[in-house]
Amino acid sequence: MKAAIYPGSFDPVTYGHLDVIKRAANIFDELTVSVLNNKLKTPLFSVEERVKILQEAVREIPNVKVESFSGLLVDYAKSRDIHVVIRGLRAITDFEYELQNAQTNAKLSSGALDTVFLTTSLEYAYLSSSSVKEIASFGGDISMCVPDFVAKLVYRKFGFGEKEMGGRT
Ligand code: PNS
Repeated sequence: MKAAIYPGSFDPVTYGHLDVIKRAANIFDELTVSVLNNKLKTPLFSVEERVKILQEAVREIPNVKVESFSGLLVDYAKSRDIHVVIRGLRAITDFEYELQNAQTNAKLSSGALDTVFLTTSLEYAYLSSSSVKEIASFGGDISMCVPDFVAKLVYRKFGFGEKEMGGRT
């Protein structure tokens, strides 16, 4: 059985992430989407919230499960006996960082962990969790970036009620 991990911050999950998840789930028998518990960052959503949101977003894809992890990705992958990491590439600007991470993980795992890149579908190439948060913080429209239930939760974090969003969500 071919298994892969798709790690990330997913703060929050976007249509770009979901596109990568669906396509990776078509390639691999089992896909584990894993939320990094990064103590150095102050996320909008807690790890528990992000896991719940992802579980809801992928509930119709049977071979996808959602977990969280702390520490090094190579250690987490080893503990699950998984040897492939999935990452999405939006543009050349992602490449340098992703290449460095992929090579670091290959080195740290003595070649046991490979990274497979999926190029983001064109319609989602501009999307990022950071821009979703920035747009939402000003009450802007994020309906083209995230599923409706996620948009509601994001607006709520920024103190916007549904009324204030003018029925946008
Ligand atoms: O969604 P992100 O924030 O771009 O995801 C980054 C992630 C989680 C893939 C990366 O930060 C990671 O794997 N962190 C775990 C720590 C680790 O293993 N670091 C070594 C690789 S450089």
